[in-house]
Amino acid sequence: MQASALARGPAAREPVGVIGCGWVGLVTAACLAELGHDVHCRDIVVEKIAALERGEVPIYEPQLAELLERNRARLHFTTEIGPLIEHARLLFCCVDTPPTYSGDADLSRVEQVVEEIGDSPDHALVMKSTVPVGTGRAIARRSHGLAYVSNPEFLKEGSAVDDFTRPDRVIVGAEEDASGFADRVASLYEPLEAPVVRTDVASAEMIKLASNAFLATKISFINEIANVSEELGADVAEVALGMGLDARIGPKFLSAGVGWGGSCFGKDVLSLKQLAGNTGYHFQMLTAVTEVNELQKRRTIGKLQKHLGHLVGKTVALLGIAFKPHTDDIRDATSLVLAARLQGEGARVRAYDPVAAERARDVLVGTELCATALEAVDGTDAVVLVTEWPEFRELDWAGEVYERMVTPLVVDGRNFLDHRALVAAGFTYEGVGRPRAALAPSPA
Ligand code: UDX
Repeated sequence: MQASALARGPAAREPVGVIGCGWVGLVTAACLAELGHDVHCRDIVVEKIAALERGEVPIYEPQLAELLERNRARLHFTTEIGPLIEHARLLFCCVDTPPTYSGDADLSRVEQVVEEIGDSPDHALVMKSTVPVGTGRAIARRSHGLAYVSNPEFLKEGSAVDDFTRPDRVIVGAEEDASGFADRVASLYEPLEAPVVRTDVASAEMIKLASNAFLATKISFINEIANVSEELGADVAEVALGMGLDARIGPKFLSAGVGWGGSCFGKDVLSLKQLAGNTGYHFQMLTAVTEVNELQKRRTIGKLQKHLGHLVGKTVALLGIAFKPHTDDIRDATSLVLAARLQGEGARVRAYDPVAAERARDVLVGTELCATALEAVDGTDAVVLVTEWPEFRELDWAGEVYERMVTPLVVDGRNFLDHRALVAAGFTYEGVGRPRAALAPSPA
């Protein structure tokens, strides 16, 4: 966490409760404790609480373990809701809201929390979990007395602590009767000196869903530009650079690739589409955003077939399993779709990831998990770079990798490798949205 944020210290120390010690809950708890607040954390999983009390951190997130360790005295772990109600007035709800088969969010865990807290005019439920627009109003209508504040999280995996400490904005949504509690929530963030946007509850809930849906749209858009660029001879990296310098567009989330993954985008796009559908409105763009992403994952197979013909009996290495680098999260990762599709085409699949392999063991059935990247590429007909882990750039492509491969074909699903160097070394290189002319070796 940034020293400057800490130096100023919290506006006022406010004991808080955090309900749900998953990724969002733990990051929130650790960062609020670092800001000087006493944090009472509750999870219903007894083993998780026992591990946290022993100082063990159940997830991989940079800086989190250090923050939890440094603030042990201010962090209190329990499996009961009682201590949170007793010691804190602001109760942050950080439980899961996974999608159901219909695409609507499953709110059963949130409902359980509301029931457990009961009617208490002394407390506010501060919603960090992503919930459908309308959830806050429905809860406030039902529970007599318990105030409701929407305070959505915008944390990215792998940089969640930094995102909490240096947010682009903080959203605090509340109705008038809860404005006192909303003030207290807003003041927790004062030391971070970020813009605080105060809204009603429904708008705050919509800001979260709309932001993620927009980011997913941005990626699907640039992926379609990449696909067309491949045909028309433009280079998507240069196109994105030129577009991104327009301040109205901005340079971020314009990297073309094998499609977005992770636990949030798919779920939130679907949830927003369903919410619209429930009101009778067909949110056409979101249907396309998801479809483009699914097709993008599969385009990789076509690129392999273009060079190898049918894939029966061919061996393909996937470099990277996690849905993005610097995380061991494999939820909705493109690697899983690719492995399944490749096996469906009759190929043998080997995969390597510096941290996510263990998590993938039960999911990537039939895929050979390798201990190193070099082991994975050994004897293969093609390598697909799925996740842009920095170590993949450091591989000795021209030497060891080239010698180990049967056919020197690289499909760079993230436009991450030095394509000119690879082509010069004798590889057949396929990126995303890169024209053939750009792949000619540089003149000596
Ligand atoms: C996202 C949101 O960014 C965050 O605000 C929200 O709270 C949770 O969901 P996260 O799931 O951690 O965060 O991943 P993010 O870094 O946003 O990346 C999502 C996916 O998009 C990854 O698979 C990534 O590889 C892909 N991506 C991202 C691209 O393909 N191109 C880009 O330009 C950016």
